[in-house]
Amino acid sequence: MDSTTTDDERDVMTEGVKRRVARAVRPGGPEVIEVVEEALAAPGPGEVLVKVVVSGVNHADGLLRSGGYVVSARFPHPVGVEAAGVVAAIGPGVLVPVGTRVAGTGWLGSCADYAVVPVERLVEIPGQLSFEQAASVAHAGAAAGALTRVWPVEGRVAAVWGAAGAVGRLLVVMLARRGAEVIGIASGARVKAVQELGAAHVVDRAAGDVAEQVRAATGGRGADVVFDPVAAETFRTSLGMLAPRGCLINYGQLAGEVDGALFHELFRAGGVFVTKFNAAAYVTGYADVTRLIGEAFELAAQHPSAVVPVADRFGLADVAAAHRALDSGPAGKVLVIPGR
Ligand SMILES: NC(=O)c1ccc[n+]([C@@H]2O[C@H](COP(=O)([O-])OP(=O)(O)OC[C@H]3O[C@@H](n4cnc5c(N)ncnc54)[C@H](OP(=O)(O)O)[C@@H]3O)[C@@H](O)[C@H]2O)c1
Repeated sequence: MDSTTTDDERDVMTEGVKRRVARAVRPGGPEVIEVVEEALAAPGPGEVLVKVVVSGVNHADGLLRSGGYVVSARFPHPVGVEAAGVVAAIGPGVLVPVGTRVAGTGWLGSCADYAVVPVERLVEIPGQLSFEQAASVAHAGAAAGALTRVWPVEGRVAAVWGAAGAVGRLLVVMLARRGAEVIGIASGARVKAVQELGAAHVVDRAAGDVAEQVRAATGGRGADVVFDPVAAETFRTSLGMLAPRGCLINYGQLAGEVDGALFHELFRAGGVFVTKFNAAAYVTGYADVTRLIGEAFELAAQHPSAVVPVADRFGLADVAAAHRALDSGPAGKVLVIPGR
């Protein structure tokens, strides 16, 4: 959102607030999370104070907390990157009206009742979306939008693992809109959800060999591009469903990292391409990230089934339980509601 110097600075806040925030005190499991009260400085130039209404819990939170991820944060660090809330006060030079409903990602420490956020990381929530929907779409929407930039998809066959997950749902709809023939992969009751999203084919991964099912759906040729957030358990299967010179885009490690020794298998798979997606390489800063989130919000407003349903809600005192809930493979989004 815009931040421009204004003469009307009546809402500029000069004193900070006390906030409650979840933080990871050392590398480890959910047990390393504690909730503390701390002083939060008043927003500086170009910043706003957001009263957090809903914070989204993401797999990245657990990876950061574990201390063994490619991206690291110094301990103790505040937990959470995604939230939706209301602008409670503004710093000098900020024009965003107090009371504006905003959401975003990259808000380190979003699992809190208040957060200070640079104005360039704010996206206004459209009237049709609730705080919960916005906090379920912001992080996934930025990722899904950037993922569609990685490989040509128009007129190609795209297979999407986790197609009924937070990122997967948005990917299915975005790829179909860009002219891809989408094969969604899901399990259990989520298979039906993917059919309703408009995938051309849906593969139930519990119903047998996934690569064979993808090949059967493509007359034996395979997919031109595979979007895989699972890694270790699915790497070989993903290679096995690629068309010659196709591309495997890995963007997560729900089942652990891929063993580097598998490199020679790219030859057998047909000289295919494999990439480990790095979102920062496909955006040029937060102007791009917020544009992608804005597009995902528009899509979600038109297509509510592209928003992952809420699986569970926790209060701020129970952020460790929220992390455990996400690690257990829930059927939807895990949220923290600070006001609960
Ligand atoms: N910037 C980024 O790079 C970025 C941003 C956001 C998310 N991500 C990553 O994207 C991934 C998905 O995030 P999300 O929020 O969409 O997660 P989610 O909502 O929890 O969905 C994940 C889906 O993956 C499927 N799945 C889980 N374990 C699996 C397994 N062993 N084999 C096959 N499928 C499995 C499940 O679907 P079924 O059981 O129905 O198959 C589940 O619905 C995570 O790895 C996350 O870290 C990356």
